[in-house]
Order: sequence, then structure tokens, then C-alpha cells
Amino acid sequence: MRVFVAGATGAVGRRLLPLLLEGGHEVIAATRRPEELAKLGVPGVLLDLLDRDAVLAAVRNVQPDAVVHQVTDLANRDLEANARVRITGTRNLVDAARSAGVRRMMAQSIAFAYAPGQGPAPESDPLHLDAPPPRRRTVEGVVALEKVVAEMPEGVILRYGTLYGEGTWYAPDGAVAESVRAGRLRATSGVTSFLHVDDAAHAAVAALDWPAGVVNIVDDEPAPGTEWVPYLAALLGAPPPPRTGRAEPWERGATNARARNELGWTPRWASWRNGFCKLFG
Ligand SMILES: NC(=O)c1ccc[n+]([C@@H]2O[C@H](COP(=O)([O-])OP(=O)(O)OC[C@H]3O[C@@H](n4cnc5c(N)ncnc54)[C@H](OP(=O)(O)O)[C@@H]3O)[C@@H](O)[C@H]2O)c1
Repeated sequence: MRVFVAGATGAVGRRLLPLLLEGGHEVIAATRRPEELAKLGVPGVLLDLLDRDAVLAAVRNVQPDAVVHQVTDLANRDLEANARVRITGTRNLVDAARSAGVRRMMAQSIAFAYAPGQGPAPESDPLHLDAPPPRRRTVEGVVALEKVVAEMPEGVILRYGTLYGEGTWYAPDGAVAESVRAGRLRATSGVTSFLHVDDAAHAAVAALDWPAGVVNIVDDEPAPGTEWVPYLAALLGAPPPPRTGRAEPWERGATNARARNELGWTPRWASWRNGFCKLFG
């Protein structure tokens, strides 16, 4: 397949390109940064998803069979910028794909936008539309992205768990490790479903053959902060974390039952414990 990848330089995107090439696909990748073009290892185009005319022209020129959307804008921890690229950037990309006759898109969403509820969330649970700010803005971005991708004839929405691995906030040089070392991260009962970035990339490749719809891509072991924060602190040689603080009702994790049972996807890093051990140990 001829695959156009937006977000090719990101934590997931840069792992995705070699996997697509190994799978025999032809890859054209996008970045906003001229200095990244030569490093992509595949033909590249300079593209800002917020520049509608440029997006329309780029996809028309490339004429891909499928588009992969791995764009987020959290490098500066700016939730508004991230919501903007999810809302406006995705609108532009979907319109460009449809006007170029592309049928298929795989897009990155998140598995932690669900409304409060009991236990790890399945895809059928509602998203947290009435969340308080600033979470509400994140959920609005996710809802807009998913709604627009669903306009594609074949839109696959990958709701990723909390990403860890090199290049993410959960890396030895990342913000979360720094916060654990400083004793700032609290161990609450709030539950997180993690996802190794390699598993995120593998799922995006597998999704080239998946039916349209929404699927949680998370590991097998939703983890309360009371387990994973002390575990991480021990791996980092940091002091035991404070056990004060309240869990948010929406911190419930997500289940990968649909990905496993209906789509045959299994995480290579089935438990964050093994993944953390390899990464931080
Ligand atoms: N599920 C999760 O847990 C999750 C999801 C997202 C982010 N995060 C965390 O946040 C960290 C930093 O996030 P990040 O957003 O910088 O993610 P990233 O995956 O490291 O990179 C974002 C990608 O989006 C591209 N991009 C951003 N804005 C764009 C735009 N307007 N037009 C076209 N491409 C655009 C960037 O390309 P260029 O800069 O090359 O143009 C880059 O390829 C991650 O490493 C991760 O720890 C977590």
C-alpha cells in the first residue's frame, strides 16, 4: 500500500516508518521541520496540518491508499494547541483525504477520555463530555477528531493508553521520571492503562487491515497509582512516593478485549511492569 504518515517524527511515528517499510509498504512522511526531512529515511513533505490549502495539495499530490494520523501537539505541554490540531488539523486531513479519493485512515486517539464508571472502560462506554476544565478541552479535541475520522469510508480510531518508552514523558529522561525522582508524583488509587510505544506502532500497522471503528490499544494490566508509582520509584532509586491525594473518578483504565478478541492484536509488552523494568531498570 502507498501510505501517507502525518506525525512521522513523533514518538510513535518514528517507530512506525520502519515497520511499514518492512511490511512492503511505500511510505511518504510529513513533518513541519525542514531539518527533519533528510532524517526520515523515506520521501517526505513539509506540512503543517493547520494549513488547510497545503494539506489538500499534499494529499492530492501523494495520492496515497491510506493515511496514518499520529499528530499531537504536546511538545510544549499546551493542551489548547493539542486540541486545536486534533480539531482543525484532523478536519483538514480528512477533507484532503476524501477529496483525493482516499478511503482509509488510521488515527491516534486516547483511551483515557472515558467518563467515570466501574472498572476498565470498553469502547462502548461514553466519553467524558461533561468533564471539568482543563480535561474538558482534551475530551472536546478527542471527540472532534473521532467524529471527523468516522466520516472516512474506512476510519480506524486507535485509542492509545498512556504511552511510555523512549521519546515520551515516561522515559528515563522524561518529565514523569523527573517528577518521581523529586518525590512530587503521588501514588493514588487512580488507574492507568499503559502502552509501550512499540506496541502503539505495531497496532497502527496492523490497523491497515482492520475494519472501521474505535479500538482501545492498551496493555493487559490496568494499574492503580499505588502500584505503578512505587514500582517506578524503586526502579529509579527514588524515595517512596507520597500516598496522599485523591484519585479522579475517570482514572479507570481501559480494556483491550476488543483488540484481542475481535482483531487478534496482542501487546508485545503485555504488562507495564516488564516494560518499565526494561526501560528504567
Ligand atoms: N497516549 C498518550 O499517552 C500520549 C499521546 C500523545 C502525546 N503523549 C505524550 O506527549 C509527549 C509529547 O507529545 P508530542 O505531541 O510532541 O508527540 P510526539 O508523538 O512526540 O510528536 C508529535 C508529532 O506530531 C507532529 N505535529 C505536531 N503538530 C503538527 C502540525 N500542526 N502539523 C503537522 N504535524 C504536527 C510532529 O511533527 P513535526 O514536529 O516534525 O512537524 C510530530 O511528528 C509524547 O512523547 C508523550 O509522552 C502521550
